[in-house]
Formats: sequence, structure tokens, C-alpha cells
Amino acid sequence: MDFYVLTLFPEMIKQGMNTSITGRALEKGLLRLFPMNIRDFAKNKHFRVDDYPYGGGAGLVMQPEPVYYAYQEACNQIKRQNGKEKKPRVIYVTPQGQLFHQSIAKELAKEEELIFLCGHYEGIDERVLEEIVTDHVSIGDYILTGGELPAMVMMDCISRLIPNVLHNKESVETESLEGNLLEYPQYTRPEVFHGKKVPSVLLSGHHANIETWRYNLSIERTKERRPDLFEKYVKEQK
Ligand code: ADE
Repeated sequence: MDFYVLTLFPEMIKQGMNTSITGRALEKGLLRLFPMNIRDFAKNKHFRVDDYPYGGGAGLVMQPEPVYYAYQEACNQIKRQNGKEKKPRVIYVTPQGQLFHQSIAKELAKEEELIFLCGHYEGIDERVLEEIVTDHVSIGDYILTGGELPAMVMMDCISRLIPNVLHNKESVETESLEGNLLEYPQYTRPEVFHGKKVPSVLLSGHHANIETWRYNLSIERTKERRPDLFEKYVKEQK
């Protein structure tokens, strides 16, 4: 998977993605990351990328040209990498988008490359968005200072679905949210912590009992913590 990120803060993207599991996947070449600084595509001598909104109002709006030139450069790179003419998927991270979800991550993980567009200030000139954006996606009903963290949230989530990024295939399949259930509680050594013992079934070595216990706890936990998800689970059982 190749991630292109059009941003005013490429260092933030590099630092965020170069750690932990995504960092290891980048090192192995399972993922490739191309952060592109939109400011490098400003064609004025002060490298200005924003201006006052027409019609007045608070804040500044990102101008269309530098965003468009950065997009063109990403498209050219993609063409050079794989010779494809196909219009790449461009994800504009915005609180106005559809809510990000595991199912969207699964769909996006099938692409060979994705372009993330990160806005700042009061947003980006609508005309360039109309021209290049294929998906508007939000990570939740709250407002962040910019699109870099949401883009990284999405890339992290997509990355772990790419083959071989996680060492253990098991953890992709039995994780929280699969089948609309939250994951069961986990325990490790020591056997007693602050007087609390690990549930004895987990020490029994009886795999069928362990599985039943875990399944029951998944149900209990989902019912208690995510009644909305539990309702979906019940519907799908019918
Ligand atoms: N940009 C600012 N807030 C955001 C959010 N909640 N989701 C996606 N992009 C954003």
C-alpha cells in the first residue's frame, strides 16, 4: 500500500507513521509513505497557501492552486510507480465526511494507493475539493486543529489490514468489532495481581471451555459498554 499525504505538516506524518507497527511495515516495504508539503507547491515568493474567505468570516481558507499542484505531483508519482492512468482515490479528512469505520478501512485496504488530503484553518477552497476528492471522511463528531491526526488514524487502521503487517493473523480476525462484538478481556502473568486472580478457566487448558467463556464475556461486555453494537449483533443472529 502506498500512502500519499498532502499536508502542511509532513514531519508530523513522518514521525507519527515511523513508529511501532507502521514503522516496521514501512521498513519492510509493506507500506510506503509519501508525505507532500502543500507549501512546496505555492507559486508565490512568500510560499503563502491561504487567504481570507470571500464573503467575510473568521479565519483563513487554503487556496486551491497549491493543493491542486500537490495532487498532480502525487498522480504523476503514482503513474511512474505503476504506469496506471486510473484516477486515484483521494480522501479528504474533514468533520463533514462520513464517519470512519472498520468496514471503510477494509474497503480502502484493497486499494494499491491512497491520497489523503489534510486541511487546516477554516478548510480548503471548495473548487479544488470538487475536482479531486473522491471520499469525504471524518473520524468523529469533534473538531481537531487539522487533518493530520485523522489521516494517521485512518492509515494506522488500514495498515494493520495489509497482509503481513501484523505478525499474527489471529489478531486481525478475533479483534474487537468483528461480528459486532467487543473483544473478551485478556490476562497475562502474574497469576495474582493486587489480590485478583486470573479466571481459572484460562488456566485449565480446556480450549472449548475457554472459547465459550470468552464468547460469553464478549457478549456481556458489548451489552454493557456498547448497547448500539449489541443491537446490531442480535439482529444479525436472526
Ligand atoms: N479535521 C478536523 N477535525 C476532523 C475530524 N473530526 N475528522 C476528520 N478530519 C478532521
